[in-house]
Amino acid sequence: MAIQLGDVAPNFTAPTTQGEITFHDWKADSWAVFFSHPKDYTPVCTTELGYTAKLKEEFDKRNVKAIVLSVDTVDDHNGWSADIEETQGTAVNFPIIGDPDRTVANLYGMIHPNADNTMTVRSVFIVDPANKVRLTLTYPASTGRNFNEILRVIDSLQLTDGYKVATPVNWEHGDDVIVSPALSNDEASELFDGDVTVVKPYLRTTKQPNL
Ligand code: BEZ
Repeated sequence: MAIQLGDVAPNFTAPTTQGEITFHDWKADSWAVFFSHPKDYTPVCTTELGYTAKLKEEFDKRNVKAIVLSVDTVDDHNGWSADIEETQGTAVNFPIIGDPDRTVANLYGMIHPNADNTMTVRSVFIVDPANKVRLTLTYPASTGRNFNEILRVIDSLQLTDGYKVATPVNWEHGDDVIVSPALSNDEASELFDGDVTVVKPYLRTTKQPNL
């Protein structure tokens, strides 16, 4: 069965460009963004991995580690990494898993045979410090992902884990948030220092509480 939200992210041990990694030990109490790309030495993937490398500071601020997989070998990943640095202007600063026998790709359902029988699709798993899967995304090979959206989701998850709020459509860090429907008006007012706007009884907003 496909990996679902709330599942424990399956553990594995695999070779990577940073040596052998056991996933749960490597991530420890960090968040992780674990994503697959279809193939090394391909253009869209080159831009995705270059951009991910540029996000290192943003990931570090949020206690997030990135880890990447395709069904190519570690030797291929190492050769391609030089091209990524040359063309995208940033050295790859996260491990890329070599998975030519598809062990990890199959564990995570990253091959969708009716789309392509040989390559991984563009899967994304956001995994929290307790190793629970908090987001899954699947994109086709022809569409590069929006990694700013992945950061945005991490911001939302970290905020809503800590406060009784949810984030509305197109929310960005700093925007107003939605008060949890589980709170009464009195509870919400006390929790958010009287700063609650009631648009409808079920739609109440407040300032982002952790600013
Ligand atoms: C790419 O990364 O450009 C790509 C990879 C596989 C299929 C199509 C595009």
